[in-house]
Amino acid sequence: MLLDRRDMLKYMSAGAVFLAAPFSLKIAQADSNFIKIIAAPVKKSLVGEGGPLSDLWLYNQESPGPEIRVKRGEEVLVRLVNELEDPTTIHWHGVRIDNKMDGVPGLTQKAVMPGESFDYKFIAPDAGTFYYHSHNKTWSQVARGLYGALIVEEESEVFDKEHDLTLVIDDWRIGRDGKLDLASLGSMTDWSHAGRLGNLLTVNSKNVPTYKLNANEYYRLRLVNVANARIFEIDPNRFDAKILAYDGQSIGKSEKLQYSPLLLGPGQRVDLLVKPKLGNDFSLEELSVGEPFAFANFEIIGKEQEKELPSAPSLPFNNISEPDLENAKLFPLRMSGGAMRPVGEIYYQGKKLEGDDFMRTGQVWAFNGVANLPEEPFFTVKQGETVIIETLNDTNFIHAMHVHGFHFRIIERSFSDIDVSNMWRDTFLIGADQSVKIAFVADNPGKWLYHCHMLEHAAAGMITWFEVVA
Ligand code: C2O
Ligand code: CU
Repeated sequence: MLLDRRDMLKYMSAGAVFLAAPFSLKIAQADSNFIKIIAAPVKKSLVGEGGPLSDLWLYNQESPGPEIRVKRGEEVLVRLVNELEDPTTIHWHGVRIDNKMDGVPGLTQKAVMPGESFDYKFIAPDAGTFYYHSHNKTWSQVARGLYGALIVEEESEVFDKEHDLTLVIDDWRIGRDGKLDLASLGSMTDWSHAGRLGNLLTVNSKNVPTYKLNANEYYRLRLVNVANARIFEIDPNRFDAKILAYDGQSIGKSEKLQYSPLLLGPGQRVDLLVKPKLGNDFSLEELSVGEPFAFANFEIIGKEQEKELPSAPSLPFNNISEPDLENAKLFPLRMSGGAMRPVGEIYYQGKKLEGDDFMRTGQVWAFNGVANLPEEPFFTVKQGETVIIETLNDTNFIHAMHVHGFHFRIIERSFSDIDVSNMWRDTFLIGADQSVKIAFVADNPGKWLYHCHMLEHAAAGMITWFEVVA
């Protein structure tokens, strides 16, 4: 059952108020140096205190899971304990990680079975806003709440904790009973259309929270879109915010967005800089639902007079190798399938899908004619080579394409050049009939995924892998 997007208003009420100072960050408990992250079922209300209890799956009973904070270059030590009835793993989204720690069952590790645990141990090479999430039956496990923020701090502090807010944004699908709608998990309609769209927007699991900010001080707002499939449309110019970083990577300055709205696809992050003025309370608004819909409010408190301000802060660059476009290897990828277009030839596990094969296998999308992970990689390159992937979206839907283990530059986009610039990304949006070229240096050996981050699309075929050999 697909609910009207406007239904998301239904459960919205006056939200809780959070004081900006001190902004309480929940730091995960260290246990013999390892941070213990327990994935387990929890009953919790998503619609405010006293509301009907949903069957969630959470990390350490919290939604979002505990915020993990390390400094750039530090080692992350996490012990994942699986108390679910399903196998699971953790993927560290956007981290240019040691391949063994990338958390992809069947490709980089064995799934962690119920009752078992797995130690993740890796260096976080880039400062920025990242997140972690389940990567097994991701469409279901993430929809139930298995995600949390991973914040890698700059070596020398740019914003102190009071001026650094992580805003994990989700849209849950709530049934008429006010509980998380589990019956529609795996719905073929979602899988073959725009993915599982929710009807309840939350920020850090709160319905329309209010944050108090001091006037005339700089704040960093880290927006993380953990939704299964929703692309948020926001306009930073409506509250005078500037861009500091995309997908965890600094742009080296703070910049006013030259267009509107900013699309924040599933898996994407953006870091905003605000310096609010007294009397200018503002909201984060979702613009894709018709009338702007405020899902977080910011109340500006403090004194009238303008203080002497330091110049606008910006974030240092991380150290990513620049692609060598002259000597790059080009790999074309054609996306096909889905509803509202002739499905064409799709092969799944070596067999051409026909008739009710689609319903039976759940496979309805393909990359280069193949649904889901092929046995052979999409391509193999040597470590250090520059890769260009030219993706053509021959479907009727927009998609959010994510590369594991690398950040890339968008070097070409048909019909539009708004994001063809010097930003680094790990996830890009691609519209129907659009073609986009991305480039990166394959400097990290291993087996890496390339998939749509609309989690239903990935499950229904939009996923492949490539190999970088040392
Ligand atoms: Cu955030 Cu393969 O995903
Ligand atoms: Cu998609």
